[in-house]
Amino acid sequence: MERHDVIVVGGGLAGLRAAVEAKLRGADVAVVSLLYPMRSHSVAAQGGINAALGNADPSDSVERHAFDTIKGADYLADQDAVLEYCQDAIERVLELDRWGVPFSRFEDGRIAQRPFGGAGFPRTCYAADKTGHAVMHTVFQQALRLGVAFYNERAVLRLARDEDGVRGLVAMNLQTGELEAYEAKAVIMATGGAGRIYARTTNSHQSTGFGMALAYWVGAPLEDMEFVQFHPTTLYGTNILISEAARGEGGILLNAKGERFMERYAPEKMELAPRDIVARAIWTEVLEGRGFENEYVHLVISHLGADLIMERLPQIWELALKFAGVDARKEPIPVQPGQHYTMGGIETDKHGRARIKGLYAAGECACVSVHGANRLGGNSLLECVVFGARAGASAAEDVQRRGFDGKEAVERALEEVEGRIKVLLERGREEGHSNPYRIRRDMQQAMWEYVGIFRDEEGLRKGVETIRRLRKEYRESAGVPAPPGPFNQGLLDALIIEGMLDVALVVAEGALRRTESRGGHYRTDYPKRDDEKWLKHTLAFYTPEGPEFDYKPVVITRWQPTERKY
Ligand code: FUM
Repeated sequence: MERHDVIVVGGGLAGLRAAVEAKLRGADVAVVSLLYPMRSHSVAAQGGINAALGNADPSDSVERHAFDTIKGADYLADQDAVLEYCQDAIERVLELDRWGVPFSRFEDGRIAQRPFGGAGFPRTCYAADKTGHAVMHTVFQQALRLGVAFYNERAVLRLARDEDGVRGLVAMNLQTGELEAYEAKAVIMATGGAGRIYARTTNSHQSTGFGMALAYWVGAPLEDMEFVQFHPTTLYGTNILISEAARGEGGILLNAKGERFMERYAPEKMELAPRDIVARAIWTEVLEGRGFENEYVHLVISHLGADLIMERLPQIWELALKFAGVDARKEPIPVQPGQHYTMGGIETDKHGRARIKGLYAAGECACVSVHGANRLGGNSLLECVVFGARAGASAAEDVQRRGFDGKEAVERALEEVEGRIKVLLERGREEGHSNPYRIRRDMQQAMWEYVGIFRDEEGLRKGVETIRRLRKEYRESAGVPAPPGPFNQGLLDALIIEGMLDVALVVAEGALRRTESRGGHYRTDYPKRDDEKWLKHTLAFYTPEGPEFDYKPVVITRWQPTERKY
């Protein structure tokens, strides 16, 4: 059995930043990662990272950053957490600069900042349109320099818990197909979002929400999972992200009639309204017959000129060319909304601590909550470095008062996983077993169709019924025909699909219960925000029959909720 003070699950940006912080504070730290870290989804982040540096406009401030974030969140974010997050932003971004992130610069050498959706000032620091890639390289180097241990190509399949909290975990070594047991005094979840529960998403295939399910299964509640972000501009046909930076730099949206339709939806902010508003506007244009092929609208950047495009948006240009055959220097890019971000996640406090002792979370898999009902662009990389660092610090502090007494809990978790694998393999030898991939595909379609950009009671009921039926089918008859061995993707996916179904059910049932519209959760049958009934966070607790729901108040400190207009 491997043993480390702190084990971080996930080698993306939040995980690496947590590992670096815990290591800097003297803990023995390991990262257990499904992928080699530089293949994590964080490298796909394009547009930038927010901090009120005031380089583009000296009137910007931490308070303005906090206000924009809270308004963008449709007032569901906890305001104390948001203010601290925006305060930390400045130090975390300057630290990235010192560590060597190749930020784009103004002429005078200061970090360049560009406008982004829902922001009152140009506040988004960037490295062209490859910011995630640049930041990941730098933080990974820090982790290597400090001697963080890495267990790559390991799929964590269960957390080990006893009456004193989380004690370790069980992972499959993908290179051998064998199960491995790990004991830890602290486990930090940093496993990313749940985009792949949807049919159309910008997220990588690894963003399954399984890390959220692992925490949920051991008793940590999932918070505000019904709030799902649909990014307005994903490439038609593939749903690859076409960064908001394209609109930040001056790109415009046109429908099939050649109208700049954002005038009708957000006359002041236009294409730079928050994402929930722009995504709904695009989808309304399409649903009302003003899109192209009933599927997409045009994003035009050609007027920005080839020089600017190649300097600040080179990846957008390359992606459009390679995946849609479109030269954005001359032609419009076909775009449509797609799932992009999970606002909800494992409930944590401002320091990354979950409700269960020994368990922490940071990044997209966590819900602090600073994004409330809708996250602003550029606040996600920021969340990874701010709350990654905070979770790493908390874990390093807490492990000083905790021993390694979790061997039995880890052994029990190991037996549980062995049991699950045995059942899947036995069923796989039976005629007529259910194919987990078909179950996953049906779930993804149902989530897109019924729990998507526009929701209503009838559709949500269908969504819940479908997920419950698929969950039952999975439990009763899913099987995997091939025996375990190196890189058995079929077996791994089958195990992960169980978690995806549980997470999807939390999203769908939470959305059905919330009879209002707020941020990314839009109910056509309840089109107004209802602060009297619904200014509260949703908490979902696991039971084998399905989620049990509870609610808790939103922390309001300085900014009273008002109508959100752009
Ligand atoms: O559009 C983008 O570049 C995405 C940024 C983000 O999700 O923060």
